[in-house]
Amino acid sequence: MHAQTELTDKHIAFVGAGSIAEALIKGLCQTGIASPWRIAVTNRRSRDRLDWLKETYGVRVYPDMRDTVWSADVIILCTKPNDVREALATVAKHASPDALYLSVAAGCTIASIGDAIAAHHPEYQRRALPRVVRAMPNTSCAVLESATAYALGDTCTEADRRMVEAILGAVGSAHPVEEHLLNAVTGLSGSGPAYVYYLVEAMTNAGVDAGLEEQTAFSMVVQTLNGAARMLQSSGQSPAFLRERVTSPGGTTFAAINTLDQHGFSAAVLEAVRSATVRAEQLGMELAEQKL
Ligand SMILES: NC(=O)c1ccc[n+]([C@@H]2O[C@H](COP(=O)([O-])OP(=O)(O)OC[C@H]3O[C@@H](n4cnc5c(N)ncnc54)[C@H](OP(=O)(O)O)[C@@H]3O)[C@@H](O)[C@H]2O)c1
Repeated sequence: MHAQTELTDKHIAFVGAGSIAEALIKGLCQTGIASPWRIAVTNRRSRDRLDWLKETYGVRVYPDMRDTVWSADVIILCTKPNDVREALATVAKHASPDALYLSVAAGCTIASIGDAIAAHHPEYQRRALPRVVRAMPNTSCAVLESATAYALGDTCTEADRRMVEAILGAVGSAHPVEEHLLNAVTGLSGSGPAYVYYLVEAMTNAGVDAGLEEQTAFSMVVQTLNGAARMLQSSGQSPAFLRERVTSPGGTTFAAINTLDQHGFSAAVLEAVRSATVRAEQLGMELAEQKL
């Protein structure tokens, strides 16, 4: 069955109405994958924010958790990691035991989310654990270009996977991984946009250093990035092939790449991703010590 049809008759509840929730709502509504009137949203206290989401996207908004989740087929947890525990204590009491949970909260494990739901819903004491999916999007969600990885809990079904692919696909690309790899994903694509912004800063400064106006240098760098990304996506060629094709021995690019190598460019990127991955592991452990 096509992924889009998986969602057309589903009710989706958003718990948390911040930037990631809005990006997902925007993607779902703009792509037509879900009907706005089947999307319900709640948050903790900001009524103005809910009203704004209702006016902008036509979704249903409720200050009350019970009204938001009781009919939901999918519950998308979009609170900060430290607020997940408090939110789940209320969500789980009012949601159907058949609901699928999709969490984007960094560092909160599938097991800890499942346990927190089960602890507040008597039905789970008698049957299988809740179905939980954990995802790691990045900030490019805001422009519907996120690289998102997700891990399915053991109790999830093939239909759950299709539903999650459809939801996450509305804000970019969705990639299944094993849960233990989500820390690496955080280090690679979660923090990745910042590495690219840093490269753009450095290249823009280099352009200014060479005599260009800052705005000109910046625009040239962004368009260079855009063109290179499109080449990578559409040419079917590897980055190494594309790089080598524009690197003639003794030429300008050759001189630049040699200089990058002398300054340990690849090793620096490797270490950067490693440190972010280790930090994600540490934050996950800190969260686990607080029991979420
Ligand atoms: N932003 C990113 O690029 C990014 C990337 C990857 C993962 N994430 C994950 O996405 C999650 C959300 O991030 P964000 O940037 O969207 O956060 P955010 O803008 O701060 O939004 C958090 C939302 O959660 C609501 N909330 C807090 N406690 C609640 C509760 N008990 N019940 C219901 N709603 C509650 C808040 O409501 P009030 O405003 O009314 O308090 C707010 O609407 C985080 O866990 C983060 O780890 C974010």
